[in-house]
Amino acid sequence: MASVPRKEGPVPPFPPGADPDTYDRLRRRVLWTMPSGLYVLGSTDGGGRRNGMTINWATQVSFEPKLLGVSVEREAYTHELVEAGGCFALSILGREDRAVVRRFTKPVEVDLTARTLNGFPYLERVTGAPVLTRAVAFLDCRVTGRLECGSHTLFLGEIVDAGFLTDETTPVLRMEDTRMNYGG
Ligand SMILES: Cc1cc2nc3c(=O)[nH]c(=O)nc-3n(C[C@H](O)[C@H](O)[C@H](O)COP(=O)(O)O)c2cc1C
Repeated sequence: MASVPRKEGPVPPFPPGADPDTYDRLRRRVLWTMPSGLYVLGSTDGGGRRNGMTINWATQVSFEPKLLGVSVEREAYTHELVEAGGCFALSILGREDRAVVRRFTKPVEVDLTARTLNGFPYLERVTGAPVLTRAVAFLDCRVTGRLECGSHTLFLGEIVDAGFLTDETTPVLRMEDTRMNYGG
């Protein structure tokens, strides 16, 4: 099972009387039951740098304006690019693309001439953040806010472009389609 290793021990608070380690493991299992999608987040510094990373902490957070929230680890290269470029693009993948998200959990090979990330062609829409051409659909966002959330920064992005790149009825990838997890 691919999961991101935890760096610290049990994180407080703990309920009165609970054993920290036991409770920590229980809390992680509960958190892992939360259903989520699984996406590739494209980023750019607005210049010559591009990146893509696997993300599941992504959701719509407002009707008006149309805002998407994405929570990005502070140490991630993506974090640096989103800060620098003020934008991001979410590629919503097909259910068959489990192997693709696996490739975006590690540093990515970028070819600006061929316009590929890890060999997968990308396109750019309004913001210039890369969208995988194999995505079922995409949301292209301009950052309008940020919230420090401990290990992560929650970036809020206004959706400035959205569309389907393939048949709208194509089933999309969710965490439960894989043996991966994150968080907890
Ligand atoms: C299943 C799964 C889901 C992930 N979800 C997130 C996420 O929501 N936010 C995040 O910051 N990292 C997430 N990651 C970790 C990043 O994909 C990973 O740290 C990546 O290497 C960061 O790439 P970068 O440093 O090139 O930006 C996830 C990893 C996996 C395996």
